[in-house]
Amino acid sequence: MATYLDAAAEFYREVAETPDVGLCCVQSGAFKMPGLTLPDRMVAMNYGCGTTVQPQELMDEPTVVYVGVGGGLEALQFAYFCRRPGAIIAIEPVAEMRSAALENLQEAARLNDWFDPSFVEIRAGDAFELPVADGVSGVFAQNCLFNIFEPDDLTRALREAYRVLRCGGRLLMSDPIATRPIPESLRRDDRLRAMCLSGALTYDEYVGHLTGVGFGQVEVRARRPYRLLDRATYGLDEDLLLESLDCAAFKVPMPADGPCIFTGKTAIYGGPDAAYDDGKGHRLQRGIPAGVCDKTAAALAACDENILITPATWHYQGDGCC
Ligand SMILES: C[S@@+](CC[C@H](N)C(=O)[O-])C[C@H]1O[C@@H](n2cnc3c(N)ncnc32)[C@H](O)[C@@H]1O
Repeated sequence: MATYLDAAAEFYREVAETPDVGLCCVQSGAFKMPGLTLPDRMVAMNYGCGTTVQPQELMDEPTVVYVGVGGGLEALQFAYFCRRPGAIIAIEPVAEMRSAALENLQEAARLNDWFDPSFVEIRAGDAFELPVADGVSGVFAQNCLFNIFEPDDLTRALREAYRVLRCGGRLLMSDPIATRPIPESLRRDDRLRAMCLSGALTYDEYVGHLTGVGFGQVEVRARRPYRLLDRATYGLDEDLLLESLDCAAFKVPMPADGPCIFTGKTAIYGGPDAAYDDGKGHRLQRGIPAGVCDKTAAALAACDENILITPATWHYQGDGCC
């Protein structure tokens, strides 16, 4: 019997052969870099809802495993920073999509003299059984794919990502999330799900899946409006806003008191002393914001009235409490 995953494969076969401009992407378009010229068809096949290409995560030139290659846009952007054969292993189950990505990357090589198609190795395979050995990858990325998976399948895909990451490695994700649960009637619509419109989880559910498979630290890098499911078109009682969430999840041990989730909160000490020390590794200099995870923010707020906790900015890139 055909499953929702078969429907997704069929859908991506279609949009590999006939690019669907604006399928998932946001209005701001693909981000640009000096000396990088993107093939037109690759841009038309930008089926991502945010970005997973975060240069600060590529400092040690990791092997990047990228699942769900689409038209190859992010594989090329990763290759911009990781210029060596086999630096990016891109996994894709749909043969037509693999062909389209390969052609787009060959065109990119004609347009960019620094790029060689050997930098990206495209392999047949899917997110649930990656053709990659344990622990080979420093960075694992997926953009706008995992949201189409049912919750149990999402857990399977995240376990695979965890398996292929080395210790300390990071999972870079971009996906739609829902500002309230999406009604079951829409969730069961396979085509809408394949279009990244009805499979989205809420923020708490999404982050809970990441920590549930063992990622000890999660950093939110961006959270912004993505799509409106309006009442009339989608048969809803109220409009439902989808957001896109970019985040990084770290394969680090789970702290005994639970995961560290960074959402951009800071703690600022404003008391009489030069600094505040909670005796647990957090030292706040008077007047200077220190990035803290949500767990630490709550603990600090509860232990001293001179500590101000600033709201989540939904943008955090390091220098935290862990
Ligand atoms: C929404 S597109 C995103 C493409 C690309 N990441 C981008 O940002 O443009 C989803 C991609 O995942 C692929 N895909 C679908 N089912 C998959 C699965 N089970 N495992 C891996 N990739 C899958 C699709 O063929 C398509 O290339």
